[in-house]
Amino acid sequence: MNKLVLWGILITAAMLGFTYMAVGGSKGGLNNDIINILTIAAAVVLVIVTVFVVIKYVRQMQTDTATGELADENWDGIGEYKNELPMGWAILFLILNIWAIWYMLMGYPVNAYSQIGEYNEDTKAHNAKFEAKYASITGDALVDMGESVFLAECKVCHGLTADGIDGKAANLNQRLEEKSVKHVVENGSNFLGFPAPMPDRNGLFNMNTGALITDAEIAAVSQYVANGMKGEGAEIFTGTCAACHGADGKGMEMVAPNIATFDIATVKAVLDHGKKGAIGVMPSFDRLNEKQKEAVGAYISSISK
Ligand code: HEC
Ligand code: HEC
Repeated sequence: MNKLVLWGILITAAMLGFTYMAVGGSKGGLNNDIINILTIAAAVVLVIVTVFVVIKYVRQMQTDTATGELADENWDGIGEYKNELPMGWAILFLILNIWAIWYMLMGYPVNAYSQIGEYNEDTKAHNAKFEAKYASITGDALVDMGESVFLAECKVCHGLTADGIDGKAANLNQRLEEKSVKHVVENGSNFLGFPAPMPDRNGLFNMNTGALITDAEIAAVSQYVANGMKGEGAEIFTGTCAACHGADGKGMEMVAPNIATFDIATVKAVLDHGKKGAIGVMPSFDRLNEKQKEAVGAYISSISK
């Protein structure tokens, strides 16, 4: 027997042996399971066919001689024949190209079923149903819904009573803390999706005096806003802030938010865009639908002074 065939038989036997061991022998996967037995049978055929096809070509390489016209270039005596590309190969190459384009665009990768896609569609459908079902609820029912959203999503940071857990998050029982107002006036703010940002202290002029806002004025107006628009600082507010936030601080649509009280629009803006301020980072909440945002806005408006 030829040495090559002997090697083939040895390799085949070794591969089959390993396969047999890998499936756990006669006590394992082969035991009475028709699918496993078929799989193993297919593996056996594959191993045998592969080994003997390889042997056939190795043999051919050992004995083949080539004829034809050599190209001029050769590298250390190794040259190339000027053979035509076989027509079959060329056709196969073109077909494979077309198939590859089809596969990318219409076959699996682009057009594939995706769990994430299905999840997103389910969520969208659920939210549409949810919003249709609860579209008409208002008043106390809306506040109740908001409370349950709050307890599920916001309590971890803002605390059961929304007091902000010792300064970890904003205390939502009051519209703004003094240090938050001060932080915004000194640094400006551009989180909430208004067309123009809130300028920082180098852009805040007192209309009455025409001068830039001073440290003393910042302190006074911050206290005034944090106090629920009461106390000293009223004049500074009128002169410097009212042009955007309104005389009563309740904001103007598309210009500036309500800083006197919480309202649904303000809470929604915070939930849509998130916020980074004197206290920390408030994440945005894409996973809540519009009705849930409205509800939690109503809840916060109801508990805050
Ligand atoms: C040019 C218009 C303009 C002026 C003047 C202005 N603001 Fe604002 N303010 C805004 C805008 C716009 C925002 C929203 C910023 C954002 O998107 O984060 C804002 C936000 C705020 C916030 C943050 C609200 C929140 O929910 O966190 C506070 C506090 C505030 N302003 C206080 C003041 C005070 C106090 C003054 C006067 C000293 C003042 N602003 C003057 C436009 C203005
Ligand atoms: C990961 C913690 C965290 C979670 C969860 C969280 N918040 Fe906040 N939130 C914060 C922090 C921190 C601030 C303070 C940001 C700052 O420095 O002004 C804040 C601020 C706010 C503000 C303040 C706005 C203002 O104008 O100053 C509102 C409103 C708010 N959160 C509502 C909510 C609601 C509603 C939820 C639940 C849907 C929620 N938050 C969930 C951390 C959180």
